[in-house]
Amino acid sequence: MSDSRPAELARLFPGVMFKTDSADLEYYGRDWTRRWVPAPLAIAFPSCVEDVQGLVRWANTHQVAIVPSGGRTGLSGGAVAANGELVLSLERMNRVLDFDPADRILTVQPGVPLEMVHAAAREHGLIYPVDFAARGSCTIGGNIATNAGGIRVIRYGNTRNWIAGLTLVSGSGELVQLNRGLVKNSSGYDLRQLVIGAEGTLGIVVEAMLWLTDPPPESSVMLLALPSFEALMQVFEGLRARLTLSAFEFFTQRALVHVVAHGAQRPFEEEHPYYVVTEFDADTEEKQDAALAAFSELLDAGLVGDGVIAQSQAQAAALWRLREGITEALAPHVPYKNDVSVRIGAMPAFLAETQALLAREYPQFDVVWFGHIGDGNLHINVLKPEPMANADFVHECSRVTSLLAQALQRHGGSISAEHGIGLVKKPHLSSTRDAAELALMRGIRHAFDPNGVMNPHKLFDGDSTHASYGETR
Ligand code: MLT
Ligand code: ZN
Repeated sequence: MSDSRPAELARLFPGVMFKTDSADLEYYGRDWTRRWVPAPLAIAFPSCVEDVQGLVRWANTHQVAIVPSGGRTGLSGGAVAANGELVLSLERMNRVLDFDPADRILTVQPGVPLEMVHAAAREHGLIYPVDFAARGSCTIGGNIATNAGGIRVIRYGNTRNWIAGLTLVSGSGELVQLNRGLVKNSSGYDLRQLVIGAEGTLGIVVEAMLWLTDPPPESSVMLLALPSFEALMQVFEGLRARLTLSAFEFFTQRALVHVVAHGAQRPFEEEHPYYVVTEFDADTEEKQDAALAAFSELLDAGLVGDGVIAQSQAQAAALWRLREGITEALAPHVPYKNDVSVRIGAMPAFLAETQALLAREYPQFDVVWFGHIGDGNLHINVLKPEPMANADFVHECSRVTSLLAQALQRHGGSISAEHGIGLVKKPHLSSTRDAAELALMRGIRHAFDPNGVMNPHKLFDGDSTHASYGETR
């Protein structure tokens, strides 16, 4: 028997576009994880706040789960719809609405791609400093949902530092203004900050006020080759003391092999275990000299084996490609992604333990390390051997992730630094959050979304009655 709900939705919401073709259900029902078989009820494309409210209220009445959907570049399954949900795509709510020069606030709709936010900021001689490789496809709504980090956190912090205000349609369809662009606001709970990183479980952001800032001075990009992880931490300390860094990113030789196989230029003749791409202020001769002097010192101390400083924009882009191209280069190998963090001070001890753990548990797999070492954030990607069935591979990686989660707990770290928990990391959330914290989180979820319609089963299981997720690919 065919489902009459999509037709009913189309009748009730004439201003909303709906899609139910199988290709659309597949396309809009998944994110970059590719682990679940998409099976949403329908895809709704509202173009105004009132229709978002109407759809959320309809979902409450009919007990249909909603999955908010941006660019679906997520890596934790947060935007997956594999269970008959209504996907609420914010694709048509993609306009820059306003710029307030006094407060330097850009107001945007949630479906605006990050790259478009950057361009809009530039038009006003300013920047929106959150940045990462998926900038062309991800949307600001998705960035807010995961508190996205990226390559400039070391200087500017995460998305949550740049959100001046949010307009939210809560899980019960209420429209609420959170913080209204105030710099100082000491009037009770900061609900805006609860919504940032909530992975769409509290409601749907329909408008965001973003703080912009001055562009940084002219910068240079340097690629360094390093002999060991210990050297990596020392090089970080050394450069941070001498230069003003805006990025400090690392990757291993295995990562380089994959990016080069994917078309990037090999940077050095010889192979080295570790590499760093770092960007630093270089607007004066003094700063440029300081960078060269720091490089020579590191070379003399044996902490760096080779290095190059970009001499042009094109060369800087080529160096950045070595780091930013990793995700795309690994994608065909169906990576199981770990995105963990510890405090920078805890990194050496955590790393020694983790390296030993993964060498012991994954002797047969290609394990690729990279990430935002300056933020204490490691991406550990395990690649699926071609002949192995995906389900067996995921099962094995989940088992090892449980051990990794125990190490994180011992070192006071987090199972997700910036990708979010979604479906992928949900079994490991308790390694990062204790029982009392999780109980508070459940209470907050219930307060925003009493009927449990907002992205149920993502992040943690609330009190929703919707069927649970199985891993199906
Ligand atoms: C990155 O740092 O490149 C992103 O977090 C994406 C990824 O981990 O694959
Ligand atoms: Zn990252």
